[in-house]
Amino acid sequence: MKPDYARGFASIHEEQPQVMASLQGALPDWLQGTLFRNGPALWHAGVTPLKHWFDGFAMLHSFTMGQGKVSYRNRFLQTPDLLATRARGRLMHPQFASDPCRGLFKKVVSMFVSELGSNPNVNVTQLGTRFLALTETPMAIEFDPETLATAGLYNYDRDHFGGQITSAHPIVEAGILYNFTVGLGKSSRYRGYQTQTGPRREFAHHPTRHPAYLHSCALTPREMVLWEGPLVVQPLDLLYRQRPYIENYRWRPELGSRLILLDRQGGSRALELPPLFVFHHVNSFYQQDTLCVDVLAYPDASIIEHLYLDRLCAPEGPPVPAPRLTRVRLEKGGPVLEVLSPVSLELPRIFERQGTPYRYVYGISQRQSRFFDALARVDCQGGEPLLWFEDGCFPGEPVPVTSPDHRQRLLLSVVLDCARGQSFLLILQADTFAEVARAYVPAVVPFGFHGGFWPTQRGFSTSL
Ligand code: CO
Repeated sequence: MKPDYARGFASIHEEQPQVMASLQGALPDWLQGTLFRNGPALWHAGVTPLKHWFDGFAMLHSFTMGQGKVSYRNRFLQTPDLLATRARGRLMHPQFASDPCRGLFKKVVSMFVSELGSNPNVNVTQLGTRFLALTETPMAIEFDPETLATAGLYNYDRDHFGGQITSAHPIVEAGILYNFTVGLGKSSRYRGYQTQTGPRREFAHHPTRHPAYLHSCALTPREMVLWEGPLVVQPLDLLYRQRPYIENYRWRPELGSRLILLDRQGGSRALELPPLFVFHHVNSFYQQDTLCVDVLAYPDASIIEHLYLDRLCAPEGPPVPAPRLTRVRLEKGGPVLEVLSPVSLELPRIFERQGTPYRYVYGISQRQSRFFDALARVDCQGGEPLLWFEDGCFPGEPVPVTSPDHRQRLLLSVVLDCARGQSFLLILQADTFAEVARAYVPAVVPFGFHGGFWPTQRGFSTSL
């Protein structure tokens, strides 16, 4: 029998127009706005199953809160990849770990960026007045925050910035979006950029001989920080692709890791570190003159193998590896690493602005299941962790929300309740993990990745 959480990896085929959720508990009056979630929801191309959690076609979900009520809707992003696949009844563009059938796909791909189409199933962000769905190819897709309807490809005013790979974790600071691209070629490099609405502007770049799989970055007032772990690719292997995208990457611990610091005023440097694998930077900040970089670190990149669906949903198997909150302090004598907590943590969020000192990290955690079955608050200063869990429940990324008067802090997490076969929006007090409310929707929300909360008064209005 499949594990109970496998329901969260089952393809859904029907969209859900706006419905009222069944609310238990009372929403605070000030909580008015929309939680957007992004994630894969369809792991089939025609009748062919896709292989990996990260492969599924993107669906947006919105939970709109206000006047004591919660409504829910979802919608598939009408991406070039989904439209082509639907038209032909089979996979037409390569995904993270699934490729179209060889016969359809030329062996020599002229530019893999165009072939690695667009299926932004990882995150959402706001750029100016636009809402964008993001993935690790630079092609973002704009959507309507009211209806979740797809508006079209977003091309940064055709800025021809270049770079085949990017991160779905931009950092927005005072209306300016910071992110990076990986430019692969004879000489590969990481390029930090910023943009307010239109063309991207590079502020620094750094060359690399071994371009790595990078998923996120951190940002201080002085620099952008990239953890370059030793999961690396030969650009030619991607160009003459014989295998799906991620399978071209190799774990080469002998290379160690590097911390790449891209100075926001230009210039860059790199520091050598032990070989660890990182999806998520949590934060980085200065303690006096010492730069601290906090990441969720795995001993190796085997997490990616564990997230193939046949393995994840097999009746038995080992638990998914879970990373630990790890701090790198760049001291004068060299970098010093410290694991800050034994608690497992993924999909990390903090309340503070990136680049400022902080104390608590929130994320999903593992307790008894092979998959993430708890929410956790980890104290960087060594205090006892807080946990939220319930039998048969599997929570997603906890999104922080602060009340307008800054007195209340809540977490919003979409939880799969396997016993009921439904998902619910869980609202917790961030400081105690006491439940404020939950709102069941008449559907399973498949396991996704990231999202954000936008208060009603900022950017758009929502109607219930
Ligand atoms: Co992520």
